[in-house]
Amino acid sequence: MEKEILRRRTFGIISHPDAGKTTLTEKLLLFGGAIQEAGAVKSNKIQKTATSDFMEIEKQRGISVATSVMAFAYKDYRINILDTPGHQDFAEDTYRTLTAVDSVILVVDVAKGVEAQTEKLAEVCRMRDTPIMVFINKMDREGKDAFDLLDEIEKKIGLSLSPLSWPVGMGQDFQGVYDIWSKSLKLYLGGSKQKIQESIKITDLSDSSLEDMIGNKAAKTLRDEIELISGVYEDFDVEAYRQGLLSPVFFGSALNNFGVAELLDCFVEIAPSPQPKKAVDRLVNPNEKNFSAFIFKIHANMDPNHRNRLAFAKIVSGSFERNTNYLHVRSGKKMKFSAPMTFFASKKSVVETAFAGDIVGLPDSGNFRIGDAFTEGELLQFKDIPSFSPEHFRFINNDDPMKAKQLNKGVDQLMDEGVAQLFTLEHNGRKIIGTVGALQYEVIQYRLEHEYGAKCSYENYPCYKACWIESSNQTQLEEFKRQKGRFLARDKFNQLVYMADSSFSLQMAKDKFPDINFHFKSEF
Ligand code: G4P
Repeated sequence: MEKEILRRRTFGIISHPDAGKTTLTEKLLLFGGAIQEAGAVKSNKIQKTATSDFMEIEKQRGISVATSVMAFAYKDYRINILDTPGHQDFAEDTYRTLTAVDSVILVVDVAKGVEAQTEKLAEVCRMRDTPIMVFINKMDREGKDAFDLLDEIEKKIGLSLSPLSWPVGMGQDFQGVYDIWSKSLKLYLGGSKQKIQESIKITDLSDSSLEDMIGNKAAKTLRDEIELISGVYEDFDVEAYRQGLLSPVFFGSALNNFGVAELLDCFVEIAPSPQPKKAVDRLVNPNEKNFSAFIFKIHANMDPNHRNRLAFAKIVSGSFERNTNYLHVRSGKKMKFSAPMTFFASKKSVVETAFAGDIVGLPDSGNFRIGDAFTEGELLQFKDIPSFSPEHFRFINNDDPMKAKQLNKGVDQLMDEGVAQLFTLEHNGRKIIGTVGALQYEVIQYRLEHEYGAKCSYENYPCYKACWIESSNQTQLEEFKRQKGRFLARDKFNQLVYMADSSFSLQMAKDKFPDINFHFKSEF
């Protein structure tokens, strides 16, 4: 079992939409022999044209169930790539998926640099010290100067970087990369940027053969830049990377399949195998004999004839066997699964045995919730699966008084799935739905009607941020509750939340109640 666990690499690729995540994923699958032709995972992506049509997006998301996890073998390793939806409205899905990865590859477009989503996603990774590897993509296009770009990444994301490869030229003049890790030069072949020359070992960059290979000007630039790098950036240190303190950087072009093999080869070697996970009472280690897992994603089937949902569970420790009784900790019930799913490239099939680091898909008829744990009997509750403050807030009203029960059930189940978050106002019991993207409101309305037979409408609720609050100063907390009663709500775990109506009132509250801690996420 230990050997199986050590050879697993479970990671996510994150980027701002359009930086090249899908293209890179596809190239990695090609290397792993998991797909035979380019274009096979394109269905994974939500088309740009569909951004205003949520049904179309849901349909495409339906397709993407299959690509939620892409597993393949490469050399002696088993690789699990967890798909993270690029569409901003599904950012919450991505945040949760990041609770199940052991490392990430961050793709940055050389011309666009650090974009809004890049910053947010990297922040979520840094919260848990997830090791980050950076891939600067689209080197075949004109973009920012490499030093400036690395500066930007360090400043905006707060990463410490250590380049392991360095570009020779860019755009029209892009000739290839110098692999600092293995001290070799990889050059594009001739005019066609599709083929790669054999890598050329260069032990000494001052060797005059460099001029013959890339020309006088490029040779001088490369020598100067490599010298500068060793002065400016820290030497690469695997342990610092694994602790999330130092990020190696690679350059390439996913579309042209350039720099991808180097990235993958280095990745399997240095990226961490499945990592321990924090639970309330203890740290759970992957090589413990007993099985444990937690649900990080639930995918509903939009087809009313097949209402079953699929819950994605990451195995934290031990091994999982089909048709074996496990404890669903929250309900206290023993359950066994006759048709658990595993994912290989873009196909899914029934799995007999899976190990820590793997993802299994568990069929669910509405009993599971994000964060739920499965064990062999221990009452584990995993930590670090927080909700973040939503961006949009609306009251939800019941439009059909005869269907109140259906509405409540529907809302509860959709919240368990993580479609949105529910807050109940303390003073009048009104329900507020908070989402990351406005699109979710349509999704909820549609699904309540078609799956639960309930009708709802929304009303604007002006709110800036939901802040989870706590304090060890009981007197101050009571005074805060007295003054801000109208703005207090409970989340689905009955935690106290302050619905700040503006950044100004939040600041005022912080100044006035210095002993109260305001958190933008539900775990602290
Ligand atoms: P995403 O998943 O991060 O959103 O990005 P995706 O891979 O879909 O890439 C976005 C666009 O960037 C695509 O073009 C893709 O072909 C292009 N691209 C990816 N890698 C490179 C690269 O290394 N060099 C260049 N020049 N382009 C790259 P598109 O026109 O939007 O889509 P498509 O019609 O090519 O599918």
